Amino acid sequence: MFEAAFPVEERYDLWRLATFTLNKRIPIHRWFYFKEGFSRDLVVMLLEELGLAEGCVVLDPFVGSGTTPLTCMELGMKGVGVDASPLAAFVSIAKTRIYNHEELRRALDTLLSSRPSQPSLEGLGTKVKRAYPRRNLVELLSLREAIEEVEQEDVRIFLKMALINAASKASYIFRDGSVLRFIKRPIPPLRPFFRRIAQSMIDDVRRVRFSSGPATILEGDARRLDSIEDESVEAIITSPPYLNKIEYTKVYEVELELFFKKREQDLIRSYIGLVGREAPRVIEGLEELPDSAKLYFSDMMDCLEEMWRVLKNGGRAAIVVAGGVYPDRIVESDYILAGLAREIGFTVEKIRVIGRRVATSGRVHRIGAARESIIYLRK
Ligand SMILES: C[S@@+](CC[C@H](N)C(=O)[O-])C[C@H]1O[C@@H](n2cnc3c(N)ncnc32)[C@H](O)[C@@H]1O
Repeated sequence: MFEAAFPVEERYDLWRLATFTLNKRIPIHRWFYFKEGFSRDLVVMLLEELGLAEGCVVLDPFVGSGTTPLTCMELGMKGVGVDASPLAAFVSIAKTRIYNHEELRRALDTLLSSRPSQPSLEGLGTKVKRAYPRRNLVELLSLREAIEEVEQEDVRIFLKMALINAASKASYIFRDGSVLRFIKRPIPPLRPFFRRIAQSMIDDVRRVRFSSGPATILEGDARRLDSIEDESVEAIITSPPYLNKIEYTKVYEVELELFFKKREQDLIRSYIGLVGREAPRVIEGLEELPDSAKLYFSDMMDCLEEMWRVLKNGGRAAIVVAGGVYPDRIVESDYILAGLAREIGFTVEKIRVIGRRVATSGRVHRIGAARESIIYLRK
């Protein structure tokens, strides 16, 4: 069931499109560096390949930093996004609002002309304290307090986004793959840096013209898209967490505590499942996989069923995935997920392989090559 029983095409020239790097220069997309994100250019390519016209509804059930809905707004489609992480959902909301740049400029001036408070650092977690020099942390908390007082919702969201953006740059934070590290280095004082960042974001708002209204972004679980109606979307463009890779809740722990008041104990599990099932679904053909992979594919089966339910007949999906690296093997997520999708009823149009990473154990023993691929499905 899980061998390459589908049309497979190799396009290694596209690998960069599946990284966030290109977004770092693009207005609004650059408001938060989400290392695990894909690029606007990938979404542009997929929207075209999936044959979507203006006005179509496009869902991303793992919306991350909002790349899919933001690109949809640029091209006149209606974006809908869901993410389990409050940080990701917030960033997506903030990027897909339509703001008035003059109003933002006035609000920024008012905010920065008020006297900073002297908040206490008591009760903060150790990682938050390690992430900033004391002075920046005091300034950050003082700005956070002042922003919470801003009455107008859009303006409050924008300023909070600017503070998250500035605070993650003016910090010792270093996201090293799935590990959060703190590296001492010279960093700018936060308050003037925040002003500069907020001003450049307002310039983005002034420059960018959208062809459709704001996207709908929800904090939720891709395995249960309760608030999305049956057969209501034309297409899905998405990238779920990769098997056995990034611990989202760990690498964004500082932001989650500071801006969303989440402590480690109430964070979601890193990968697809928010609350663990009692036991994973038993899926024929996957009996030999490690337990974490069984859980992953069980959760992904729920997600694929939800994608089937919300897609219109004839609707299409493009899902970016990568193989899982285990000490003794590579788990071929693309073939497995395509096989599961076919069981649900999807037609697997093709698997396009865009990346290939050789994995070794102990630097010498070659485990195999993990593919990064786009799975194209049709309902
Ligand atoms: C690979 S990232 C998506 C990045 C996105 N394409 C972008 O460009 O920013 C995967 C996202 O899935 C989210 N996620 C994990 N489990 C989830 C779940 N059960 N439901 C919805 N989102 C989930 C993570 O918080 C993360 O933001």
